[in-house]
Amino acid sequence: MDSFEYKDGLLYCENIKITDLTNDIKTPFYVYSYNTLKNHFNVFDNSFKDINHITCFSVKSNSNLTILNIFKNLGSGFDIVSGGELYRTLKVNADPKKIVFSGVGKTPEEIEFALFSDILMFNVESYEELISINEIAKKLNKKAPISFRVNPDVDPKTHPYISTGLKQNKFGIDITKAVDLYKRAKSLEFIEIVGIDCHIGSQLTEVAPFIDAIKRVKNLIKDLNQIGINLKYFDIGGGLGVKYKDENPPSPQEYANAIKNEVKDLNLTMIFEPGRVIVANAGILVTKILYFKSNDFKNFVIVDAGMNDLIRPSLYQAYQEIIPVDKNNCNKIKADVVGPICESGDYLAKDREIEVKKEGYLAVRSAGAYGFTMSSNYNSRPRPSEILVKDDEYFIIRERESYQDLIAKEKIVEV
Ligand code: LLP
Repeated sequence: MDSFEYKDGLLYCENIKITDLTNDIKTPFYVYSYNTLKNHFNVFDNSFKDINHITCFSVKSNSNLTILNIFKNLGSGFDIVSGGELYRTLKVNADPKKIVFSGVGKTPEEIEFALFSDILMFNVESYEELISINEIAKKLNKKAPISFRVNPDVDPKTHPYISTGLKQNKFGIDITKAVDLYKRAKSLEFIEIVGIDCHIGSQLTEVAPFIDAIKRVKNLIKDLNQIGINLKYFDIGGGLGVKYKDENPPSPQEYANAIKNEVKDLNLTMIFEPGRVIVANAGILVTKILYFKSNDFKNFVIVDAGMNDLIRPSLYQAYQEIIPVDKNNCNKIKADVVGPICESGDYLAKDREIEVKKEGYLAVRSAGAYGFTMSSNYNSRPRPSEILVKDDEYFIIRERESYQDLIAKEKIVEV
């Protein structure tokens, strides 16, 4: 379910006409639907309600404070990968005992910040990281709760840039070396082993790779039990895919049923780190058509959003649907939809049939995940604003950046 629909040719988010927003707010901007966010979170979380679990929303997919606060109020924990993400979750008063810290390159400062904040656990990705956590915990005279992120070497069958559970990826530790590492961790005074973790990739459209990974981790859990290492948590990461175009991903219920069936005999608290499946289809990016131009080969629709605002099409050749904000008096053309950035790779769509009109506005769909969070200031472009719609009200949850913001941290040094 999502809440972006047409009435009389006009695109709405819940009960707000997007044309009302374009009248009031400078494009480009992101728009999120509160009721879709809430519904997606609840559907996911409720699919696991009959087992012990914590849903830890993956902050990297959308880290706006209002969005994090919405999920916190719905009972969510958080999956973080940096001190900055930890800072954001604490700003919305998240329960630290529902925060898991993932990532291959946690710095000593970040580890200290997380230990100080009493998070639920560190998902440790190397022996050296473990030693570093132990030393910092010693300094703070605390026990650091850890799980190892193991790399189960299963193919998630997704884009190579977002597959993480294969041997050639930098993530996790080799599952065949895990028992040895757990033993070493057990001997460290300031480490408390609490769990095991794996995350095999993102935008998965089948359940099978998740189940393969779980089966491999279950064997490892058995081996650990045999040497007296008993765990509390099994974190299987995020990764459930969404429909951008023709994909047919499993529903959260199908995903949950398959997982529950596989873990029912384990008696562990399951942790999930969903990002995309909760937020992707709850957001759009709204952009204004600036110019049309054509050459002998192609038509171009030049819009005011660039790869700095939404990089997924340029970076992953990702398909995101583009629809008009007002269908009335539009013409259908086949064109590349391109931004103002000085790079040939700056596009939102290639050879796409779209409905356009002069001075019209377009909405790029499925932009709620990895949209704003991957935006940048490339070409000295202020980052866009973010709007939340709830029923018939809208709220600016991040102001568009100004030129002053662009240079706020810079100094002119005469040399
Ligand atoms: N947990 C860990 C450890 C992760 O690395 C990720 C995503 C997630 C959870 C959340 O995964 P999700 O449920 O959203 O699939 N920028 C790319 C996606 C990168 C995903 C990185 N890790 C994109 O725009 O497609």
